[in-house]
Amino acid sequence: MSEAEPIRFGPSPSPAEAQEPTPAPAWAYLLRCPDGSLYGGWTKDLARRLKAHRSGKGGARYTKSHGRDAVRLAYAEKCADKSAALKREAALKKLLKADKEALAARWAADNKITLRMATPDDAAAVCALYNWYVRHGTQTFQYAPSTVEEYRANIAHVRENAPFILAESADGRLQGFACAHLWHEREAYSWDVETTVYCAPDCVGQGVGGRLYRALLALLKAQGYYNAFALVAGNNRQSNDFHRAMGFKKMATEKRTGYKFGQWLDLDYWVMVLHEGDGEPQPVRKTLTDAEIAEAMG
Ligand SMILES: CC(C)(COP(=O)(O)OP(=O)(O)OC[C@H]1O[C@@H](n2cnc3c(N)ncnc32)[C@H](O)[C@@H]1OP(=O)(O)O)[C@@H](O)C(=O)NCCC(=O)NCCS
Repeated sequence: MSEAEPIRFGPSPSPAEAQEPTPAPAWAYLLRCPDGSLYGGWTKDLARRLKAHRSGKGGARYTKSHGRDAVRLAYAEKCADKSAALKREAALKKLLKADKEALAARWAADNKITLRMATPDDAAAVCALYNWYVRHGTQTFQYAPSTVEEYRANIAHVRENAPFILAESADGRLQGFACAHLWHEREAYSWDVETTVYCAPDCVGQGVGGRLYRALLALLKAQGYYNAFALVAGNNRQSNDFHRAMGFKKMATEKRTGYKFGQWLDLDYWVMVLHEGDGEPQPVRKTLTDAEIAEAMG
């Protein structure tokens, strides 16, 4: 008799799908230094590499002596692997300054991000972006993809209490979303929300998540929420680093609290205090003026 198949919990991904989502395994990039010069490099993790350049720790000697924390991403090109990225880096470095400038200008135009509030009609795009992570990663503990109808209801429900913000590129492609829902339903928790943010897998590390989250947090603060909590899988280094960079403080870790794709996962609790004070809070404002929204989104 053959041995029984072990029970698996959650969809069985192919070995490639089980890995962290890295649709762009490597990047060649240009950084703009404050003196106008363009520095070329390659990396497997754009956000981490940018951080290294800006902190001066593990970055490049050139960026350290040419503005360090003021350097900005000016161009990013997806490459199939490390060797392709190294080749593109070498080619970028050989370009004339005018050609580098032309690349940077085109990239800036294509990647110009606009933020706007979501409506239930955006459900299909949001659902497709989120389901990518459901199917391929452990950033969300959800096993089965959401349906568009569920997302229609979700967007409408979120908007009753909090913002649901979309980031779109110049051609209208959804690049990311951020939203918040009540932390718990009981009345005493009325001043607490849980925040969520997801970028399209091919545009992480390029500033989209930061723009979305800063706008979301500004709106939540204007509404009168006191605490924004975020729950992050322990193995999601990107999101843990992101929340730290956004000013969240880590409160606790739940050990081995989730199981997906054949592994036990920790859950890290992060908090951002939006309002301090021990006195009686004002009720949260469920709607903001157009001017307040425009200011936060700007
Ligand atoms: C987590 C996520 C939303 C962050 O958005 P992003 O667009 O990649 O992040 P940004 O480029 O805007 O970076 C914002 C800040 O976070 C920091 N950061 C982001 N990723 C980082 C990384 N991998 N390492 C170090 N720092 C990082 C940046 O340095 C930046 O700091 P700064 O504002 O001081 O310069 C995005 O990577 C993502 O969607 N990941 C997959 C889905 C996911 O994990 N969602 C969260 C579920 S809890």
